[in-house]
Amino acid sequence: MGNRSHKNAGHMGMNALRKRGGVHSSERITQAGVHDKTFHSAVTSDCLELLRQLPDESIQLIVCDPPYNIQLAHWDSHQDYLAWASGWLREAERVLAPTGNLVLFGGLQYQAEAGSGDLLTLIYDMRKNSAMRLANLIVWNYPNGMSAQRFFANRHEEIAWFGKTSKYYFDLDSVREPYDEETKAAYMKDKRLKPESVKKGRNPTNVWRMSRLNGNSKERVGHPTQKPREVIKRIVRALSFPGSVVLDYFAGSGITTRVAIEEGRHSISGDADPILHEYLGKQLSLMQEDTGLLSRVPKYELLKKLSSDHPVFGRTVISLRDTLEVMDPQTGVSRMTSPYNVWAALPNPARKPPP
Ligand SMILES: C[S@@+](CC[C@H](N)C(=O)[O-])C[C@H]1O[C@@H](n2cnc3c(N)ncnc32)[C@H](O)[C@@H]1O
Repeated sequence: MGNRSHKNAGHMGMNALRKRGGVHSSERITQAGVHDKTFHSAVTSDCLELLRQLPDESIQLIVCDPPYNIQLAHWDSHQDYLAWASGWLREAERVLAPTGNLVLFGGLQYQAEAGSGDLLTLIYDMRKNSAMRLANLIVWNYPNGMSAQRFFANRHEEIAWFGKTSKYYFDLDSVREPYDEETKAAYMKDKRLKPESVKKGRNPTNVWRMSRLNGNSKERVGHPTQKPREVIKRIVRALSFPGSVVLDYFAGSGITTRVAIEEGRHSISGDADPILHEYLGKQLSLMQEDTGLLSRVPKYELLKKLSSDHPVFGRTVISLRDTLEVMDPQTGVSRMTSPYNVWAALPNPARKPPP
């Protein structure tokens, strides 16, 4: 009997669409408008307090790397982990745009202390209480890690990617991996493969081999569980588009803000620990050192709080629906507009920032 999983049905549908020369609706907004500046709010805040201040459907991507109650640090301790996590998961779903994506970092830690949480706990909650769909369970496979004697040394962590609706945004081309010259030459001769697809490179698959940060890594700014820039960059590129808003309410080292700046996305970051601001300062210094010429970093502005200068409050939410349904008032003809143009054209005073 054939495999009737919804994944396969989706796959077959996409392949049929491509054969007809069509593109999936989520791919139509990959050419978002160029903007001249992005805005980045970084705040000291409890995750739920931050989320409650954000308008519905205002965020394109949430990068979420939560504490799991495994006593990694003073913030990592909750009486009822599932109840606590459910609170911010529901809020996350509310603030995501219809094209939005949520990525949850984690792993399976359930052999640990009673009361701890893990990615399984969160996926269980999502399955029971959320309409979002699991698009991929990404295996982040790192070559470096601790040794072990009583079990196989762990070399992976998972990243669960959920799309808010079936119209979730995904830009595969922005994260394809180039083939090596030899493979490329062989594939270009293969009549079954399209040369333009071969030139674009391969799908990086849902197994990502990327190193964790070593203790002495140049990227480190001092946070104990800082994630590598390479991992965050792939997520931001593939699951958000230029000019959209990326949110990280367990911001830690501020790496999501750095990547958002570099990739031309707006961002909001929050962490209960005010040291976030110090880490962020270091991130920005590293960014300038790494890029050498400041002019290579897209123009940006840092905001100390959530203010009406941030597009989340001042503009109409970017969503696929908006981009598809904008009508030219002169001709009455509907046309595709870039998300940035929709934003720029339709300020929305109803979305007020907190006082
Ligand atoms: C696993 S770390 C995130 C690390 C981050 N992804 C990075 O790469 O730097 C979790 C962060 O959540 C923060 N945190 C813990 N409880 C919180 C809460 N209730 N609200 C907001 N932040 C919280 C901690 O201070 C910590 O920095």
